Amino acid sequence: MKEYTYIMIKPDGVRMGLTEEIVRRIHSKGFEIKLFDVRKLTGEVLDEHYAHVKDRDFYPEMKEFMLSDYVVPMIVYGENAVQGMRELMGPTKSAEAPTGTIRGDYGNKEIVNQNVIHGSDSQENALIEIERFFGLKLNHGEEYNFGK
Ligand code: PPS
Repeated sequence: MKEYTYIMIKPDGVRMGLTEEIVRRIHSKGFEIKLFDVRKLTGEVLDEHYAHVKDRDFYPEMKEFMLSDYVVPMIVYGENAVQGMRELMGPTKSAEAPTGTIRGDYGNKEIVNQNVIHGSDSQENALIEIERFFGLKLNHGEEYNFGK
């Protein structure tokens, strides 16, 4: 079944000019980008998105970083898109990410939060994150025309 996932290029990825290369990698895996935006986030949406790590000692620095510049939120669609995108990104810690993955090639090996890209970790969270960032309630497997 085709599924949706929420992907977001973080400020470091935008600043390094990686948007085009990341889009190329997503397409080369056979996934479609259904929606694409460039915006600055608010503290409120970040606190909600990162609620599970909001009390961790690294969160204030991470929040400041995430607010420091534009991000590129996207809805990505395809067979096994949640897991497939996580493989394309590599593990959260760029120092542990293999060469050939986005984080392995471009992530900061010392500063964990500067890992270039975010991707949903489950089908359930993908739909929650898509609604949070795009205001759209989607179901996996259903086709939408996204305003065409
Ligand atoms: S956890 O606690 O590792 O199970 O949480 P996880 O769901 O993997 O999300 C962690 C997000 O916090 C960012 N972050 C860090 N994680 C672990 N250690 C350190 N020091 C750290 N600093 C920041 C990490 O990048 C995850 O965000 P996303 O956007 O998913 O990459």
